[in-house]
Amino acid sequence: MKPNQPLACLVLAAGKGTRMRSSKSKMLHEIAGAPLLAYPISAAQELGASPIVAVLGHQLAEVTKVLQARFGANTVTVVEQTEQKGTGHAVQLGLAGLEGFAGLVAILYGDVPLLTVDKLRQMVAAAQSSDGLVMLTARVPNPAGYGRIVRDDAGHVRCITEDRDTTPEQKGINEVNAGIYVAPVSFLREATRNLLPQNAQGELYLTDIVAQAAASIGVATIDVSAQEMSGINDREQLVQAESIMRSRINARWLAHATIRSPETVFIDADVVIDADAEIHANVALRGKTRIGAGTRVGMGCVLTDTIVGPGCDVLPYTVATETTMGANCKVGPFAHLRPASELGDDVHLGNFVETKKTKIGRGSKANHLSYLGDTVIGEKVNVGAGTITCNYNGYQKQQTIIEDGAFIGSDTQLVAPVRVGHIAIVAAGATITQDVPAGALAITRVAQTHLAGYAARLAARYEDHAKTAAEKGKPRKAETE
Ligand code: UD1
Ligand code: CA
Repeated sequence: MKPNQPLACLVLAAGKGTRMRSSKSKMLHEIAGAPLLAYPISAAQELGASPIVAVLGHQLAEVTKVLQARFGANTVTVVEQTEQKGTGHAVQLGLAGLEGFAGLVAILYGDVPLLTVDKLRQMVAAAQSSDGLVMLTARVPNPAGYGRIVRDDAGHVRCITEDRDTTPEQKGINEVNAGIYVAPVSFLREATRNLLPQNAQGELYLTDIVAQAAASIGVATIDVSAQEMSGINDREQLVQAESIMRSRINARWLAHATIRSPETVFIDADVVIDADAEIHANVALRGKTRIGAGTRVGMGCVLTDTIVGPGCDVLPYTVATETTMGANCKVGPFAHLRPASELGDDVHLGNFVETKKTKIGRGSKANHLSYLGDTVIGEKVNVGAGTITCNYNGYQKQQTIIEDGAFIGSDTQLVAPVRVGHIAIVAAGATITQDVPAGALAITRVAQTHLAGYAARLAARYEDHAKTAAEKGKPRKAETE
């Protein structure tokens, strides 16, 4: 067996995407939480391709920025195609970005997200062993718009003719070009140099390299389904591709996690779900969310960029963003965890508890109706129902610190900046404006007093009112009801 040659990748993505009717580049429209262009680049990475060159044109700066944010500054080399003179021209420019590279090149499109890594692996393996051009073709019921595969009587590929250049007989060919190729870089350099814009569109057609390969290094085709090769041109195709991608993602996690009513569950491409997790209906897991082993995510939860530890119970309709939870936490129903919420192990947050920029130590609880913002809470703290941190004075956010073992009585306001010391107790209904010393009881309400017999006096007073009204001819209120 001969040694494998290195693999590089070109992703053609300079197209404008007019049919999206969008102010945003087509390449940045998302499916399953990732921009279209991220799919071929991730696939190239999985194949181990390096370098990866993206040929960009329309909105180059915005697209480059998104690529760098996602893949780092050095993963993708960007080459600019200012004028779109065809796929052949785009590859000529892309090859300039591969100077000094020797080996195989995979040519992918930026707008074909459903193409699988398995299929690409198959192509690369074929090219490694044959040193020829390997391309994907599909049999489709309606070949209009696609390049047709022209074969000779022996079945060998001779060339591709583009839809607008086909003869009436060729129009009927239903084997079409998917536009995805793997070939030796030496061949591609020479073949693209020979391209001429002699066709209906006056462009440099990459497809013209196929006839050259047929006459030299040879052409092999690999079948692909119409679905897997489909490009995204408009929003209808975008959402169709997304629903296919979603069922693929769900199927992947269903191998070791339970996803109930999977057709209602939205899991983004970058989410990770550990073994034995259970995801209920109508859940959305977005961005870089991770669900720990054995954790249950109840109906209707929306978790974005949130790390949930193992053994947690996230009860229905919890919304969490940029949050981390340790092991065995119990959160919700109807909890709202906003960015920079950090829960240690065994933390319980109940219904209508909102947190933001708040760290909560192991075993602490806030079980009902609270707002905890810009707060550091130690371990084994009990935050009573209705406790509010008053973190904003109209100008600035201020911090609240509650030390280990403290007990905050119900309906307390903690006016930040303020600190409640170790095992201190705040009596219910307090408005805390000064630090509470460790171990102390803070109580801020007025002392309770009693007015004896008040209820009867009140009743008598209203009885008098009623009599006076009756004397003046007004009906008693009770009689009018
Ligand atoms: C191309 C193929 C056709 C094939 C079809 C499959 C050619 C000449 N034709 O047609 O045989 O059936 O794909 O979808 O190659 N791009 C650039 N720069 C350019 C032109 C295109 O970067 O100058 C990029 C686009 O952004 C897109 C990809 O190349 O990602 C394909 O371009 P597109 O115009 O969609 O190709 P088709 O004409 O559909
Ligand atoms: Ca296309």
